[in-house]
Amino acid sequence: MRRRIIAGNWKMNGALERNRALVMDLLAGLPADPACDVVVCPSAVYLAQLQTLLRGQNDVSLGAQDASEHAQGAYTGSISLAMLQEFGVRFVIVGHSERRRDQHESDLTVGAKVRAVLAAGLTPIACVGETAQQREQGLGAFVVQRQLGAILAMNAGMPLDQLVLAYEPVWAIGTGQTATPEQAQGMHAAMRMQLRQAGMAADEVRILYGGSMKPDNAADLLAQPDVDGGLIGGAALKAVDFLQIVQAAGERP
Ligand code: PGA
Repeated sequence: MRRRIIAGNWKMNGALERNRALVMDLLAGLPADPACDVVVCPSAVYLAQLQTLLRGQNDVSLGAQDASEHAQGAYTGSISLAMLQEFGVRFVIVGHSERRRDQHESDLTVGAKVRAVLAAGLTPIACVGETAQQREQGLGAFVVQRQLGAILAMNAGMPLDQLVLAYEPVWAIGTGQTATPEQAQGMHAAMRMQLRQAGMAADEVRILYGGSMKPDNAADLLAQPDVDGGLIGGAALKAVDFLQIVQAAGERP
């Protein structure tokens, strides 16, 4: 059975005192030995703070929101995987739609970043998803297939057992307009089929859903057979909400 992942993407939110309170509330509220992997991805400047706060426990892992595909050198503002590793990072979100949009990350860049994360021995959470306009034009499945295809093509020959994917329809991110469980399941199943056709052990790859996942819709989304967890934005900033989603992920029908 695929172990579920609930990952909090804090995006450009947080402050020292608020982070501390949030992490303390999370650690206090988590069941001992949670039934899913729990990950928090703060802004990079707070990784050192969270490394300290999370020391001595194994229930919550640290993730980064991005990483450079380059090892070192003249890349102003970028952060290398070796740097992230020094701060205990184990997961790296790659190709989030906000970076594709704001930093103009292409499919090729995303594929190269996934490759760099895998080569470093960390777990990429590689994001794909269509915009509202693409969906309205009937291109949703095509766009997701293209984005996933680029990730697979750029990682031919890489050990892909650590690859985690996230289907994040752009129209659902931060909008409160969640994909229905059927919409999510349909896309997740198509992605798994694509992995299988590429010769991968598709049944072992975890595919998360992201886009306005909240306590009141998490259980229905997670009940879908191909939804293996969630990448949570807004609801990850409130300990009670995030904990409720973690709890829903621990319950198997
Ligand atoms: P949201 O963000 O939960 O606030 O919609 C999800 C994400 O962007 O990863």
